[in-house]
This record gives sequence, C-alpha cells and structure tokens, in this order.
Amino acid sequence: MEKNFKRTLVTTALPYANGPVHIGHLAGVYVPADIYTRYLRLKGEEVLMIGGSDEHGVPITIKARKEGVTPQDIVDRYHKIIKDSFEEFGISFDIYSRTSSKIHHQMASDFFRKLYDKGEFVEKVSQQYYDEEAKQFLADRYITGTCPHCHNERAYGDQCEACGTSLNATDLINPKSAISGSQPVLRETKHWYLPLDKWEPYLREWILEGHKEWRPNVYGQCKSWIDMGLQPRAVSRDLDWGVPVPVEGADGKVLYVWFDAPIGYISNTKELLPDTWEKWWKDPETKMIHFIGKDNIVFHCIVFPAMLKAEGSYNLPENVPANEFLNLEGDKISTSRNWAVWLHEYLRDFPGKQDILRYVLTANAPETKDNDFTWRDFQARNNNELVAILGNFINRSVVLTHKYFEGKVPAAGTLTDYDRETLAEVAKVKEAVESLLDNYRFRDAQKEAMNLARIGNKYLADTEPWKLAKTDMERVATILNIALQISANLAIVFEPFLPFSATKLRQILNMSECNWEHLGNTDILAVGTQLAPAELLFEKIEDAAIEAQLQKLEDTKKANQLAEHKANPIRANIEFDDFTKLDIRVGKVLECTKVPKADKLLQFRIDDGLGGRTIVSGIAKHYAPEDLVGKNVCFIANLAPRKLRGIESEGMILSAEDADGRLVVITPADEVKPGSEVK
Ligand code: MF3
Ligand code: ZN
Repeated sequence: MEKNFKRTLVTTALPYANGPVHIGHLAGVYVPADIYTRYLRLKGEEVLMIGGSDEHGVPITIKARKEGVTPQDIVDRYHKIIKDSFEEFGISFDIYSRTSSKIHHQMASDFFRKLYDKGEFVEKVSQQYYDEEAKQFLADRYITGTCPHCHNERAYGDQCEACGTSLNATDLINPKSAISGSQPVLRETKHWYLPLDKWEPYLREWILEGHKEWRPNVYGQCKSWIDMGLQPRAVSRDLDWGVPVPVEGADGKVLYVWFDAPIGYISNTKELLPDTWEKWWKDPETKMIHFIGKDNIVFHCIVFPAMLKAEGSYNLPENVPANEFLNLEGDKISTSRNWAVWLHEYLRDFPGKQDILRYVLTANAPETKDNDFTWRDFQARNNNELVAILGNFINRSVVLTHKYFEGKVPAAGTLTDYDRETLAEVAKVKEAVESLLDNYRFRDAQKEAMNLARIGNKYLADTEPWKLAKTDMERVATILNIALQISANLAIVFEPFLPFSATKLRQILNMSECNWEHLGNTDILAVGTQLAPAELLFEKIEDAAIEAQLQKLEDTKKANQLAEHKANPIRANIEFDDFTKLDIRVGKVLECTKVPKADKLLQFRIDDGLGGRTIVSGIAKHYAPEDLVGKNVCFIANLAPRKLRGIESEGMILSAEDADGRLVVITPADEVKPGSEVK
C-alpha cells in the first residue's frame, strides 16, 4: 500500500576519499539521486539530498603509508577533488560533508555507545594475523599466500580466485603481509559484533514481505543473504585511523568503516540542520531513499537497518534503488588500472559539456543490468539526439520567432486538428515522466522527456512554417506559438536531467519560473514575451575529439600491459631436463559440466588417447561448458592427481591469462590425434 509521506530524505553513498570520482560513480549513484531530488524540488516538495566523503578504512591508511603522508593528508586532498567534481556536474547536494569531521566522530561514537549500553553487541576474542613490521593487524585482503586447495600462490585471505574457494586468512599456506611482505603472526584480539542473526526474522519480514516493490536485483540480493543465514558482524577493527571505540580498554581500536560511514548520513543532516535534523530521521512521515551501487546493498539493506533498529528511534529506508555497474568500452572500470573516465579530466577535455555526460550516463544507466559506456555512443547520442533533436527544435523555434515576430511570442489563431493532436501528445508527457521517476526508472523517464522534443521536431517538420511566411502569417504565428510552448515544456521537463541546458533555455525563453505543475500546459509563455537572442544549446562533437579519448584508453592498456609484465617477469632459467619432466598432451573434450556450488570450476571428461580422464579446471567464469565440448586442448598429463570439491582431477588444462585475468584455453592450430605429445 502506498504510504503518505510529508518529506523525502535522499542519501547518496559516501565515496571513499582515496581517489577521484569517475563516470561509474556518477552513473550509479549521483546522477540518478540528483534527478530524483531536483524533480521533487520542482514539485515544491520538502526534500533533502545528503552526501559526503567516506574518509576512514584501511585502504586510505595504506595509501598514506605508501606516499609517506598522513591519512588526513590523503582525505583532505581527495575530499576537495571529489566535492569540486560533484559541484561542477550540478549534483545539487544540500550538504556535502565528510566523516573526519568532529560532529561525525561525536555522532558515530554516541551511536556505538548507545548500542553498547543497551547490550546490543556481542564481545568476542579471536586470533588474527598481525604484521610485526608494520605494527598492525591485517584485514583479509592484505594477506596473500598459497591456496590449500589448488596451490595457487596468489590467493587472498578471504578467497582464492583461481579455484573460487572462499577462505579464512588462517587457511593460507605461507601467509604474507601485503603491506610489508613479512610473515604475519597470530595474535588474540577482542572485537564487538552486531548480532545480525538476532534481526533476521525482522529483516525477513520487513524486506521479503514488506518491500516486494524493490528492484529485483536489490530484493534478490537481500533474499539470498537472508536465506543463507545472517551471522554476527564485527563492527570494530584494530587500526589507528577512524572513530575510536568509546569503551574502556579499547585502545588501538576504531569503529569498522562500514559502521561509521552510514552514520555519516545522520551527522551530515545534523551539521546542516542542527535544530531540526531529527524530524528527517525519526518522523515516520519522512521517506528515506538510499542511492547506492550494487556492492553496497548488504550494508544498506541489512547491516545499517539492523543498526538503526537496534538503536530504536530511527526510520528505516523506504527504498534502495541500487544500480548495477557501468563498464567502460567493454571492460570493468578499475581505479588501480586507471581504466576510467575521471570527472576532473572530462571537465578539462569537454569544458561546459557536463549535461552531455549526464545525458549519456542516464541513457545507459545500469538500472537492471551492467551497462557499457563507449565514446562512440557518447558521440552518437550527442550528435543524433541532443543536437539533432532537442537543440535543433529549440533553435528553429527561437530563430523563426526572431525572424518573423521580432523575437516576441506570437498569439495563436485557430487551431487545426493536427495542432490539437500534437498538443494532446504534449499533455501526456507529464504523467508518463512522473510515474517513471516515482518508480526510480530514470533511463525511461529521460527517454520520455526526449520524446517531447521529438514531438516538437516533427511538428515543425510537418507544418513547415518557413514556407508559409509569405502567404499566411496568422498560421505561422499559431505554429510558432505552439512550438514555443513545447520549448517551454522542455525547459521544465529537462531541468532534473540537464540542469545547465534547462537554465540556458529558460533564459532564452525569458521564463521567470520553473514549476513542474505547468508541465503539459500550452500557455506557459505569455503572448508578447520577448525572447533572448538564439543560442545553440548543444554542438556537434567531431571524430577527432572521440579518437583522442580512444587513444588515451589505448595508451592506458599498453601501460597496464607493461606494468603487468614488470610485475610478472620471466622466471629463472631451467635446464632442458627440467622441461622434459613435464608431460604435456593434446586431448579432446568429450564432456564438460559446471561443478555445483563452485562458480569457477568446470569438470571435463577428456579423450587422452589412453581411455579418457577427468580434469577439473578453474575457467567457468570464462567459458560456457557447451562451448568447449569437441575442442582440442592441451593438458599436463603427469601432474599428481588431487581432489577439488570431492572430484579427483587427473591433470591440468593449459590456458593463457591476460593482464585483466581473462583466461583463454590453449588449442593446437590444426586437428591432431588425442594423446599427441606437446614438445
Ligand atoms: N565508501 C563506500 C563505497 O564507496 C560507500 C559508503 S556508503 C555509506 O563503497 F553508507 F557508508 F555511507
Ligand atoms: Zn585455490
């Protein structure tokens, strides 16, 4: 049932202040949140949009150590860059603050203390790896070692990426600290855990029964977490950067970054509205919406709600319209590989063209599945949609009004049937866009807005007022009045999506106000209103500009390959005798199936010319089983057999791995008998 709310609190994931922001951030979180907030503001609703930088966590401390500066230096640097980028892109936060602020430390500390005093935590002592050189405990990702299952030497403390097994850091053979390279030692340490299991029945009811309207990807992720059974989660860490745990005997411990960061939404609201912040968080008539990316779902749908519930006086979110990921030219965006379009660089290369990027990112918004940003698509959407449809229509309407009516909005005469049909189409747009925006479908909403420009463009093309100027000025006046009213509608409907262009358009049309309720009206511009001189809203993007961007990405790829080569140098020479110990053969794949419950493993039956053998291989992420049946592959035939997920694997199939971790199976160039030796 639709509840009635009085006001809306929009929160946007707090980006980590350990690097600048890129198009993935914008597409996933900030542009949709901004569209939604601007829309509500235009409707005159009470709304707040809260943002800020997430300035705690281990990666920030590691970066600081690498650069020989303090963590505060790191977050000061990136907080500014990020904040400036958002401002430049018109992301209209009511406040953009940061979690290293005093007010946040106080708020997070008090929040923890309240839960502690209510007995909402469980205390547990456990053994954790400690780096004696770096003098710190090591989070899972900062320990590498040999996988006990497949002997991959580059397994992480939480998972082996070669065989897909999830691990505990203590399972690793020869563990090594990723910080100092030294061998870590086990030390006992005490931490506080939030018993999510206690909240499981509540969360199950609240989400799985109460919020079936959430996006399928969000609902599905929640369901699978809840169905797997929720475990207590540690909310403290042994670290010297963060909010100190406000309890006796907790020296050297801080709140886990995922405990304090979401509280940042609350502290930032309080910083903005010291006297009235509570109504935004505690009045049940406030609707809270979290805008986030899919990697944040569990924290916003399970952990943070459990924290709020445990505290007892806060609202829970009404919706969490999380997005999937945006890729760049077919590859996953990656900060460490510099595979991204950085916002500050875009602004340098395309000054004043923020709306184009906003438009393209919304047109490709990864709302239901991962999506791809390509520079060719960017160019095509600008040239064929923004320039050819929206810009062209507005420009023609304004230029013709200047030409025939000295730039004053002419009065409409008698309407034809076609005029009425067109205006009826125009009137439908408001409801269509509203119902899409109300359901967080930004991509379709923008399409609907663009459709209004298409209607206008078609209207001018069909009525051809420039041909009537000599014979029927009254008809020309009617046509231009209608075209200008459609233009005024466009200035309103595009305000949430293209705020810079909409403002410019309102100036051209001399519109003093922008009110969503006027959408669909055909008398927005009073007869006689003086227009400003025509001005192009968008301009064509030439091939050269796109090619420069593609070249830049090519260069990045090359640099990455070089770096990978350096990181992965040719190993020490071996003697020929060593080589001949390896028995490599060709085999034909007879059968290939997925290994149940192991998302990386495929099980093969191979014709090895000797009666057949079974091999298990960690390439399920790269091939569909049916694509490999019938292929000739190369395999090591004399590798000692070993069990993987209870299946005895008799050998190893050879693949090539590229810098991005993509695996490609090695096959002989021509047909050759199974069992043939590779030498
Ligand atoms: N910094 C986190 C990330 O980039 C998001 C934090 S969202 C908040 O994934 F809820 F913690 F604020
Ligand atoms: Zn492994």
